[in-house]
Amino acid sequence: MNTPREISYPTYLELDTLLGLQRPQSTPVHPDELLFIVVHQASELWFKVLLHEFDQLIGQLEALDVQQALTTMQRINTLVELVAHELSALDTLPPQRFLQFRGYLGSSSGSQSAQFRAIEATSGLRDPHFMAALKEHGALPPAVERALARPTLQALFLALLERQGVTLEAVYQDPTHGMLLMLAESFLAYEQGFARWRFLHVQLVERIIGPDTGGTGGTLGAKYLAKTVSQRFFPELWAVRARLYGRG
Ligand code: HEM
Repeated sequence: MNTPREISYPTYLELDTLLGLQRPQSTPVHPDELLFIVVHQASELWFKVLLHEFDQLIGQLEALDVQQALTTMQRINTLVELVAHELSALDTLPPQRFLQFRGYLGSSSGSQSAQFRAIEATSGLRDPHFMAALKEHGALPPAVERALARPTLQALFLALLERQGVTLEAVYQDPTHGMLLMLAESFLAYEQGFARWRFLHVQLVERIIGPDTGGTGGTLGAKYLAKTVSQRFFPELWAVRARLYGRG
């Protein structure tokens, strides 16, 4: 029998490569730039896992596998909380220290994150305004194109209900649809978790560059970001509550 290639902790995780990828641009190197890079890189790694989990989720929704979809949503929601919480590491970066290396970032901005845009598009952010703004920066990244070619999560969930002959109202009113209700609520939890990321990020931005400073990506900064907090992926899930339980 052939001996398998020797796999150890550093080779399996490609640590030499991974740990060589943090390259501060400031000269002399600013002591806080490493943290700044790592929080962004770690977030991008989690975005990668999230997109992978969304692929699983979409397959499960299409296969009407509610139980597995629920399990995947639990993981997705945990990861969104985690990636939001991670931002707090940068709350320890005082504004005057960030200013000392901000100039070295050039025009790089989180708004150029293709994975973040792909997560938004997968989730359901497709309004024409938003898409037009995205296209201003050139062709859409392949990950975003791919996400746009698929139905939104809300559309997938509504299609699943239709194929099971259940209305969204019945999910909320008929106790026999417990699993579907949990799935609907997990989507709402995702919506809230994502909005929490947006809120914590805008607070971080205000804390570090103030409410009136434009971003390196050319937006109005915190003012632009604050507007994104109210964006919704699942308008139907919010509307059904108003229809069934709201006043008037
Ligand atoms: C010192 C900390 C940070 C500052 C000052 C900051 C600042 C900004 C600003 C001003 C924008 C608006 C776009 C622009 O004009 O540049 C933005 C967008 C963005 N940032 Fe950050 N950011 C910080 C940390 C992070 C971290 C850790 C991430 C994690 C990946 C991140 C991800 C993003 C994303 C995805 C957007 C686009 C959001 C949207 O358009 O809805 N940012 N950031």
